[in-house]
Amino acid sequence: REKNWQEYCSIYNQYVQFYHDEILKNESLTIAREYLKKRNLSKDEVKNFKIGFVERNSNFYEKLKDEFSEKVLVESGLFYLDEKKNTYVERFRDRIIFPINNISGQPIGLGGRTIQENSYSAKYINSPETPFFKKGSNLYNLDLARRLSNKIDHVYLVEGYMDVVGLSKNGIENVVANLGTSLTDRQILMLNQFFEDIIICFDGDESGYKAALRAAENSIKELQPEKQISFLFLPDGEDPDSYANKNGKANFIDFTKQAKISIHQFIFNHYKQQTDNNPSSMAIFEKKLRTIAATIKDDFIKKYVLEFFLEKISSLTPHSNIGKKQFYTKKVKSLQSTQ
Ligand code: GTP
Ligand code: MN
Ligand code: MN
Ligand code: MN
Ligand code: MN
Repeated sequence: REKNWQEYCSIYNQYVQFYHDEILKNESLTIAREYLKKRNLSKDEVKNFKIGFVERNSNFYEKLKDEFSEKVLVESGLFYLDEKKNTYVERFRDRIIFPINNISGQPIGLGGRTIQENSYSAKYINSPETPFFKKGSNLYNLDLARRLSNKIDHVYLVEGYMDVVGLSKNGIENVVANLGTSLTDRQILMLNQFFEDIIICFDGDESGYKAALRAAENSIKELQPEKQISFLFLPDGEDPDSYANKNGKANFIDFTKQAKISIHQFIFNHYKQQTDNNPSSMAIFEKKLRTIAATIKDDFIKKYVLEFFLEKISSLTPHSNIGKKQFYTKKVKSLQSTQ
């Protein structure tokens, strides 16, 4: 097992280094380079995140097969058997690759983005789960972000690779991504080891909103004294990458200060929006909030969140239904009202 781990690391290190050098040095990769330029990525970001590019016809398997067994090479998830050709081929062909590191900075998985717009293949693919890469136990960029935790008490949790890279380029480096999977308890606990406040900032669209709600209901269980989980909803159509590139660091920080809301306020406001001012609807509302509060593991947090919910409910003035089928912008606007 120890030997497998050593070999796994060696395969990933060689692979990541090789394709990183390619994008930096191989002048013929013009399409990939143009793509990076178009996405606002300079040499600095490429180096900082060890971004690489795997050419369509490249085959690194050939270079590794003398040193490693077929079994460990396949186990790495970087190659798979093309049954027609009866050869191993690259999983990440024709993609920009982002190494996913463990907390010590060792690459253990990859994300790959296609450079073809309107491509028939998926926009992103990730390494499959391997014996050494479990998606729910990792966060992209935690190895770099955690180094800031002696200076900064909060971390942004975003959806994607480009959001991490884009914020970082704009001077906000305390940022990690959970890569489109749903947020796990393990990931919350990992972030809480380093940061007091986790600011969840997903894409400003319907799916980002739904993912935020899921993350809120799941992670409130893990809330601990002295820790916070907050939410930041971006303007409609923006993601952290696009927002930061348009508006810059100072604006992003200001926006965080005025727009972030606490996890319990978000949950309360979300369910309030779905509630009519009649007993049956109010009953469902209160039940829902009590059920959510009951999932909280820490007894003190549980007590105070429940008190918060019940006080808010009792102070509600008669309000009219604002409708269940709201689009993102309207929903987010009414989240900001703290009543
Ligand atoms: P970019 O700015 O180019 O990253 O595109 P985007 O902002 O439209 O990306 P999107 O919001 O769709 O995706 C955010 C994150 O979700 C990505 O960084 C991936 O981790 C993940 N993701 C998106 N699309 C796919 C997909 O087709 N397959 C997989 N496995 N993950 C995806
Ligand atoms: Mn703070
Ligand atoms: Mn999205
Ligand atoms: Mn994006
Ligand atoms: Mn996005």
